[in-house]
Amino acid sequence: MISDAKNWKVNTRETKVIADERGFLGELNLSEIPFPAKRIYWIHAFEEETRGRHAHISLRQFLIVLSGKFSITLDDGISSHQVELKVGDNLILEAGVWREFRALDGDAILLVIASQEYDDLDYIRDYDLFIKSKHAVL
Ligand code: TYD
Repeated sequence: MISDAKNWKVNTRETKVIADERGFLGELNLSEIPFPAKRIYWIHAFEEETRGRHAHISLRQFLIVLSGKFSITLDDGISSHQVELKVGDNLILEAGVWREFRALDGDAILLVIASQEYDDLDYIRDYDLFIKSKHAVL
């Protein structure tokens, strides 16, 4: 584990991966996800492009890097942390965290397992508004 905070937990090398002469097979039990999964999506990001740049009001997510590397910024409104995730690393990400995902190479794929179906109303896409919302509840 490389980072553990109230709103996120970064796990490294904890994914079961079976390697043989044909390649790699990764396994993830849904019981390892701390919420009932409602949606899966994946991001195949172009090199050096940043995705995310938003926070969620109630969505919980489990992210796992399937290929390449990502630089991930996590900001709870008080402090900002940067972590680098590589293949097999996973991140449990609670609501109320501003997140940014930057692909460090051209073949970076992030699988996201989410607690809710897609809902645009659950997004805070304006950083100033995010900071204001955090101070409103502090
Ligand atoms: P966006 O939130 O900009 O992606 P990212 O968080 O990677 O920066 O989403 C891009 C588009 O995809 C936007 O129009 C919303 C849509 N979308 C869905 O339709 N379903 C989904 O599950 C997600 C995550 C996004």
